[in-house]
Amino acid sequence: MKKWFYVIASLLLISGLTAACSDDEPDNNGGNTDIEEVVPGTNHRILVAYFSEPLPDGVDAVTSASRVIVNGDLYGSVQYVASVIGEATGGDMVRIQTVQPYPGNFDDLADRADQERQNDVHPEITTNIENFNNYDVIFVGYPIWWYQMPMAMYSFFDKYDFGGKTIIPFSTHGGSGWSGTLGDIADLEPEATIVTGYSISRNNTATSRNGILNWLGEIGMME
Ligand SMILES: Cc1cc2nc3c(=O)[nH]c(=O)nc-3n(C[C@H](O)[C@H](O)[C@H](O)COP(=O)(O)O)c2cc1C
Repeated sequence: MKKWFYVIASLLLISGLTAACSDDEPDNNGGNTDIEEVVPGTNHRILVAYFSEPLPDGVDAVTSASRVIVNGDLYGSVQYVASVIGEATGGDMVRIQTVQPYPGNFDDLADRADQERQNDVHPEITTNIENFNNYDVIFVGYPIWWYQMPMAMYSFFDKYDFGGKTIIPFSTHGGSGWSGTLGDIADLEPEATIVTGYSISRNNTATSRNGILNWLGEIGMME
């Protein structure tokens, strides 16, 4: 139950890595992945694709921390970052969802996510982007689940060919930062260009709007 949470908390205490997981800052994964600083080209056709699983009220303090309420609207934390990106860039939005919905109870969700990860299950997704080839810049958003991307993201990368396109990752987490996911995306989509992404703790997501807008400016994506 919430093993990742306790493991991460211990690691942070032991190694003093809190600063390395600093929020509100673009993060280039420690330089392990070949990452461009600015989106190449002009006249972009932008898609914002994201996976977000906000859990219902009253589960417990850990899970409810992933929910964001801004101006009275309720979001999952990735969903909130996606909404700011979509509004600022004018990109089309698509939410990545699985055919079999994930449970709304944290322990059941954690178990299913762990089973999928351990068995390399790529769950079928309902997401269907008919005009995918029309987009040249795709923001790709996800939470960290069990130190990696949710397996539905692997299904998403299976389904669409990102060759020649630009991927801009964004992510929220409970302490793990990118957790190696930038390298995973580069491995899954070796023919894509990857641009500096945005990673933030769910604890700071509700106040991240200005940080997101600054980052978008830095990578040349403000309208
Ligand atoms: C099944 C599950 C596993 C998680 N594993 C991790 C993890 O390994 N490291 C971490 O930092 N956060 C982990 N988290 C926390 C989420 O990354 C965090 O709450 C995120 O903001 C959720 O985004 P969302 O509300 O948009 O779904 C996990 C959350 C869930 C539900």
